[in-house]
Amino acid sequence: MVMLTLSGIEKVFPNGTAALRGVDLTLVPGRVHGLLGANGAGKSTLIKILAGATAPSAGTIILGDRPCRFASPRDAKAAGVATIFQHIPLVPTLSAFENIVLDERGWRRGGDRRRIAALVATLRDPFPLDALVTDLPIGARQMVTIAQALASGADVVVMDEPTASLAGHERIAVYDTVRRLAAEGRAVLFVSHFIDEIVALTDDVTVLRDGRVVLEARTTDLTEGLIAEAIAGRAVAVLERPAQPRRRGRPLLTAHGLTSPGRLAPTDLTLHEGEILGLAGMLGSGRSELLHAIFGADRAAGGEVVLDGKPVGRWPDEAVAAGIALVPEDRDTQGYAPQLGIAANIALPQTGRLLIDHAAEARAAAAAIVRLGIKATDGDALPVELSGGNAQKVVIAKWLRPATRVLLLDEPTAGIDIGARTDILRLIRDLADEGLAVILASSEFSELVAVADRILVLRDGHVVATADPATCDEAGLIVLAGGGRPALENAA
Ligand SMILES: Nc1ncnc2c1ncn2[C@@H]1O[C@H](COP(=O)(O)OP(=O)(O)OP(=O)(O)O)[C@@H](O)[C@H]1O
Ligand SMILES: [Mg+2]
Repeated sequence: MVMLTLSGIEKVFPNGTAALRGVDLTLVPGRVHGLLGANGAGKSTLIKILAGATAPSAGTIILGDRPCRFASPRDAKAAGVATIFQHIPLVPTLSAFENIVLDERGWRRGGDRRRIAALVATLRDPFPLDALVTDLPIGARQMVTIAQALASGADVVVMDEPTASLAGHERIAVYDTVRRLAAEGRAVLFVSHFIDEIVALTDDVTVLRDGRVVLEARTTDLTEGLIAEAIAGRAVAVLERPAQPRRRGRPLLTAHGLTSPGRLAPTDLTLHEGEILGLAGMLGSGRSELLHAIFGADRAAGGEVVLDGKPVGRWPDEAVAAGIALVPEDRDTQGYAPQLGIAANIALPQTGRLLIDHAAEARAAAAAIVRLGIKATDGDALPVELSGGNAQKVVIAKWLRPATRVLLLDEPTAGIDIGARTDILRLIRDLADEGLAVILASSEFSELVAVADRILVLRDGHVVATADPATCDEAGLIVLAGGGRPALENAA
């Protein structure tokens, strides 16, 4: 078992962005090392260097006692470093098994099926090996990426936000695996924006800010508050529920019999101007399906949507024309056009106009960059040049336009750092104060309790309860949603 040391790592991208400015980090066999930092701090860049996906501008990687240079991800894997990336998707048209063996030599001969089956069986949430990835829920897909990394038998396992889009019980499956890897003597690097899980799961912590290490310590010597402050560079305020109930306006949107075969039972709802309606539920409970049905994004969905007395057509473009917007859960494949710059992405909902007003686009992008605190060089930056959290902010920015009257948000804070999370929740509240109607689906039930006016709890495709956030709490919602007790208490 070998130790891995990064020393003096620097990275300057061709566009001049200095993402890393001399980072030192040591991974020790048998220990889990947490890596934290605000959106754009340099975490994923460091991981890409470790994984051989990008070359450092300066600095060395020492594996055991040898300096090494990874020319490609295959190189790194062969040296015993396996990585689960933040953004690299699986191949949706291949099976889980084919994805796992995809980059192993000899996969064309069918791979070593028995060995992979045994490995998957040891996971807490095994998945069917022959299922097509496109048919698997997001939690199972995350487990496939983990199996992919484990199959290589690596000594060092690196995970970039493996729990960002997972709900309680699926996170537990990941924690289980991480603990097991460490117990087997491997070194694990674990990136997350969830400070509670970092405290519960890791042995050591490194915090990056603007490409530099600002905190390095044993986890037992730290508190959640200390970590949060190191990330943000300031004290972080938790968003509190306003003491006064917020005022809501007249009914704006009504939906009748919204349904998606096998996923969502017929559901009625009414949404008022200025209201924030929370959707609580575990993964697969029907939250996303409900949002997709309203937006017309699910061809199999049934039911009708009426906005301001007028029926809304069952296609996304008709929903957009009526003023309905959707921030999807799967931002990388549904949230933005990767070949377009930020400004053009933000202007996307207005395409269909005959003339493109570039000056207006640039102004709108500049405003969004300031309003949402997007860390980017300028409006021409491409999504690939943004960190995960900043790309998410672009997806939200796209819909912040006067024509939007109903905003559907599916996990809008996934991948958003602890400082920006409060800013985004506050923005949602401000938008509602301006009269926008919002539906907010979130796995972070504490967020729902902080900002929602009313919460629908979904379970197995049914609305099973309506909760009043003034009187319910996170634990109560988890029980209603069928998730058992909160994740970290369960994890042991
Ligand atoms: N290919 C690229 N070209 C130019 N700049 C880039 C590129 N990739 C990342 N950057 C920039 O490098 C900086 C660090 O990005 P990185 O993705 O490492 O952040 P992160 O800490 O992983 O953030 P997040 O929590 O949002 O995922 C950011 O300013 C980002 O815009
Ligand atoms: Mg990242």
